[in-house]
Amino acid sequence: MANRTDKHTSRPLFSTRFGVIAATVGSAVGLGNIWRFPYEAGSNGGGTFLITNILCVLLIGIPVVCAEFMIGRAGRKDICGSMQALAPKNSGAWKAVGFLGVLCALLIIAFYAVVSGWTLEYLFQSATGKIGEIAGANRHAAFEGFTSGWRCVFWTVVIVLLTGGIVYRGVEKGIEKASNLMMPLLFVLLVAMVVNSLLMPGAADGLRFLFYPDFSKLGASTFLSALGQAFFSLSVGLGTLTVYGSYFPSDTRIIKSASIMASLDTMVAVMAGVIIFPAVFSFGMEPAAGPKLIFEVLPDIFSRMTGGTLWSIAFFLLLLMASLTSIISLSEVGIAFCIDHWKWGRKKAVLTVTLYSLVAGILCALSFGPLADMKIFGMTLFDLLDFVTSNFLMPIGGMLISVFAGWIINRQTVRKELSPAPRLAVSAIIFLLRYICPVAIFLVMANNLFHF
Ligand code: PHE
Repeated sequence: MANRTDKHTSRPLFSTRFGVIAATVGSAVGLGNIWRFPYEAGSNGGGTFLITNILCVLLIGIPVVCAEFMIGRAGRKDICGSMQALAPKNSGAWKAVGFLGVLCALLIIAFYAVVSGWTLEYLFQSATGKIGEIAGANRHAAFEGFTSGWRCVFWTVVIVLLTGGIVYRGVEKGIEKASNLMMPLLFVLLVAMVVNSLLMPGAADGLRFLFYPDFSKLGASTFLSALGQAFFSLSVGLGTLTVYGSYFPSDTRIIKSASIMASLDTMVAVMAGVIIFPAVFSFGMEPAAGPKLIFEVLPDIFSRMTGGTLWSIAFFLLLLMASLTSIISLSEVGIAFCIDHWKWGRKKAVLTVTLYSLVAGILCALSFGPLADMKIFGMTLFDLLDFVTSNFLMPIGGMLISVFAGWIINRQTVRKELSPAPRLAVSAIIFLLRYICPVAIFLVMANNLFHF
């Protein structure tokens, strides 16, 4: 059977309510929760970061997620097309916001494919029983050796091809089916790992670090990091959720879906923290190890645990599934753009985005080895892309999307898209989009740029 489409617009659609949640949560839950959140929390004071992050999700994240969903469903196009369709006549400038989003998605794919590739390597090492070789005294050399060599490039290519294979099959048969399969499995693995972690001797210290807020660690940069983390983790500000919103059936409840997605996403980040910090503390390791945290610290912990090989396989499998469903959604931003903007067929669009991702991913992978000395603003290509996208492009995109939804689109369209929902919830979302989100995002970014 063919993929399902909308009767009036022939837009592809997700086929079930479960599929909508699985795909959107699949996009949100990814390396951002399991790889990025713990190291950001580790370097920004644990509990303080968690609270700031939750505030950002509630007051800024959820409203912008709703905005993206409704722009997509009302416009039934990719981010550029939908913004253009909903903007008042002759104000094509809004399309530019869409272009910025597509650019941002393409930049994220590059480093996201690389880290997803690391996951495959660690899964492979665990499955072949070699976890001892990437742990203990070897762990640093093993990580550096692997990331600077050709294996890292190889796994990046595998990830990109795998993603291409899934998105090629379409919205319902590819994206929805893959998410329906992987997301429930991911939750089962997560719960098992949380239970295991809570039984460790150092669990209390780890939990204290994650949940106890030390407000002396609170600074302006904590807010930028927490906001950047909220945007990155919710996949918001670059059109991913607009594209997924354009695949929503017309009876999907937008505020409810956004709230479920944001709660599950935050829950997974907290669970990842609960898995990682007790282990870090019970084995006397450093919680602020940065991006290497889970790749250097966890194998070491697994190698000293009973049944460590199995736990290690479970963990990296979980990470792989989480990252695949996210990179699928990133690719879909580019693919939907090619299809809607240039009227290409799906096949040509998928091939083009896959080819781009191969080149960009490989360049990024090489920035740990042969291209390590090529510094831009003092950063390697990998670090620069991560920094610029989550600290600038996504917040700027989020700010403009909230202005668009709050001030530019016809108010009736907004109310219609957000209903049915309690009146209070609709009014609160509109209020936040108009007055709070743009100002808060601007202040946080300006503060960090100019340090006032
Ligand atoms: N939200 C994903 C994660 O947490 C990353 C992502 C960002 C996916 C932006 C799509 C768009 O890993």
